[in-house]
Amino acid sequence: PGVGPFDLVVFGGTGDLAMRKLMPALLYSEGDGRLPAESNVIGVGRTDLTREAYVERVAAACQANAEADSPGDEVWDRFAGRIEYACIDEMAAEPYAALRRLLEPRGDRIRVFYLATHSDVFGDICHRLNAAGLVTETSRVVLEKPLGNDLRSACAVNDAVREVFDEGRIYRIDHYLGKETVQNLLVLRFANTLFEPLWRREFIDHVQITVAETVGVEGRGGFYDKAGALRDMMQNHLLQLLCMVAMEPPANLDPDAVRDEKVKVLRALKPLTEAEAAKKTVRGQYTRGIANGAAVPGYLDELDSKDSRTETFVAIKAELENWRWAGVPFYLRTGKRLPERWSEIVVQFRPVPHHIFPSEAGAPIANRLVIRLQPDEGIKFHMMNKVPGPGGLKFREAPLNLSFAETFRTRSPGAYERLLLDTVRGNPTLFMRADEVEAAWIWTDSVLAAWETIDEKPKNYSAGTWGPSAAIALIERDARTWHEDE
Ligand code: BG6
Repeated sequence: PGVGPFDLVVFGGTGDLAMRKLMPALLYSEGDGRLPAESNVIGVGRTDLTREAYVERVAAACQANAEADSPGDEVWDRFAGRIEYACIDEMAAEPYAALRRLLEPRGDRIRVFYLATHSDVFGDICHRLNAAGLVTETSRVVLEKPLGNDLRSACAVNDAVREVFDEGRIYRIDHYLGKETVQNLLVLRFANTLFEPLWRREFIDHVQITVAETVGVEGRGGFYDKAGALRDMMQNHLLQLLCMVAMEPPANLDPDAVRDEKVKVLRALKPLTEAEAAKKTVRGQYTRGIANGAAVPGYLDELDSKDSRTETFVAIKAELENWRWAGVPFYLRTGKRLPERWSEIVVQFRPVPHHIFPSEAGAPIANRLVIRLQPDEGIKFHMMNKVPGPGGLKFREAPLNLSFAETFRTRSPGAYERLLLDTVRGNPTLFMRADEVEAAWIWTDSVLAAWETIDEKPKNYSAGTWGPSAAIALIERDARTWHEDE
C-alpha cells in the first residue's frame, strides 16, 4: 500500500540467492497483492538468455522453493509478465546498454538496484550505473551480505558505493532482520511491561543464541571456503540478533533511532585477545555422518580438497562492556550439518534469591524465556509450578507456550518479502548502516586475528551432531549448559 510502481534490477539475477530466495519472495508478494501494477523485475546476468528462457528458469526455481501454500497459476502468470532479463557483463566497458533500453522508457519511477554479486564489485557496478546515467533521484541500492571479508575491505566497499549513493539510499541487507520473529523481538521487549525492567544483569544470568542448520555447503563451496561460519553467519546474522536482544530502548522507530542503539551494542562487544580466543571460541569442521536420515559426505569431500581450515561451526562466548550487561555472557553458536534446522534465543534468568520451600519440593529452576525463530516460531516462558494434588508440595517446571502458527493462523511471510518491499517503500529501519557493519567487523577481526596467531585446525565433528565436544565444554566450564530442543 502506498507504493508506486517500481523497477527492481537484480544483479546476480541467475545466481543462487535470486533463484532460491528473491524470486520466490516476489512471487509470494504478488500473491498477497503487494506488487503495484506496472512494476517490473529485471534479472541481470552474464549468461546469454532470452527473456523466455530466463522466465522459465525463474519458474523452475519458484517451484523448487515453493512452500505448501504456494500461489497458484494465475498469480504466477501475473508475476511472469513483470519479469525481464538483461544480459550484461557487469564489469565490461560497454555502458550497460541492455539495461538502459529497458529502464529508460519507464521514466522516473522508483528504481531499486539489488546487488547480489560478490561485494568486491559493488563499487564498480554503482559507478558504471552512474556513468550510464541510470542512477536517478528515486534510485536506491541494496547490498547483499557478506559486505567485505574484514573491516578494511568492508570500509572500501562502503566508500566506493557512497561515491554514487548517499547513505540514506544504501540498503545493506541482513535477511535475519526480516524474519517475523526477529521483528517481534522489538515488540516483545518494548510493547510489554513485564520484561524490560528485568532485562539486565541483575536478573539475567546469561543469553544463548543458536542458529543451527542441517544443510552443508550446497555447491557454494568456492564462496564458503573463503568465508567460514564466523564471516558467513556470525559477523552478521548472530550479531544482529544479539543487537535486538541487548539494545537499549530507542526513543521511537525512526530508522536512525533504532540503528543508533544497535551500533552501541556492537561497539560494546569486547574484542577477544589471543588468550581469550583460545578459551572462549571453538571452531569446528564437519566430517561425514548422517544428516536428515541419510549418509552425507564431510566438508573436505564436498569441497574436493584434502586441506582446508575453514570452520563450518563456531561457538563463542561474547561479552558486552556496558552497564546493562557487564558480566552477562552471550553464548553464540552456529553451524552447518547439525542435527536440526533450528534457531533460537534463550534468555536465562537468575535463580530466586532465597528458598522458602521444603527440600522435598525439589530445587526451583530459574526462569527461562525461549524465543524460537525457526521453525515453529514461538515464545515459551518456563516457570515453576506446584504439581496439583493434596499431598506434599512438589515443583514442576512448565512453560507458558505461545505458538505463532496457532495464535495468528496466518502465513508468516518470508524475510525477503518484507525487506524487498521496504527498499521500495524507502524504509531502511531493518537494514544495516555502514557504522554497524564496520563495528561488527572490528569484533570479528579480533577473533580472526587471534585464530591466525593460534594457528590451529578446526576440530572435527561428525555431520548430524551438535558440533565438536569443545563447544559443550565451552559453556559447561561456566557451570551452564546449552539449551536443548524441546
Ligand atoms: C545465509 C548464509 O546468509 O544464511 C547461508 O550465507 C545460510 O550459509 C543462510 O545457509 C541461512 O538462512 P536461513 O534463513 O535459512 O536461516
